[in-house]
Amino acid sequence: MTTVLPPSPTPASTTAAATAPAGAAALAVALAVRTDLWADRVEYREESRWTSLLDPADVAAALDPSLHAELHSAQIWLLSWLPGQGTPLHDHGSSAGAFAVARGTLTERVVSRGTGRTPHQSTADLAAGRVRFFGPHYVHQVVNTLHEPAVSVHVYAPRLSLMNTYKVDETGLVRIGTERAGVDW
Ligand SMILES: [Fe+2]
Repeated sequence: MTTVLPPSPTPASTTAAATAPAGAAALAVALAVRTDLWADRVEYREESRWTSLLDPADVAAALDPSLHAELHSAQIWLLSWLPGQGTPLHDHGSSAGAFAVARGTLTERVVSRGTGRTPHQSTADLAAGRVRFFGPHYVHQVVNTLHEPAVSVHVYAPRLSLMNTYKVDETGLVRIGTERAGVDW
């Protein structure tokens, strides 16, 4: 006789962590294509990238109800990027998330610790409609390397509390700073 054991329960926190990047990606794409929700708000600034928080309550009614659970726990940023504007190499602390390009094209450089001192690096151009999602401690740099202004929607869960900045040198991937919510932005 075979005894079938019930599956082990998965802790809710583990489930949430595993599904957060995919949920964030779905939300980022849904918001990126709804230009009517944010186009009037976008500004372009010569001195630096422009950023604005989107209030989940302002966009909930326009989104499919299947996304409302994601929306509840998400922090949403709208960003604009003039040609040449970009981020340093950074992570998002323990937040997972996603970003979708809504206008223009952004170039993303992803760096991960390799097996020796040399980190693994890859670069890709992400045109409007493309999305990237990531787990905690994902290290990347995003720059508008082309000639047209760009807009992107970024979703973080849990909300962004800190970002570490990095450089790559002969010793590998090196953390060079930390920016904290409420202090640095
Ligand atoms: Fe980022």
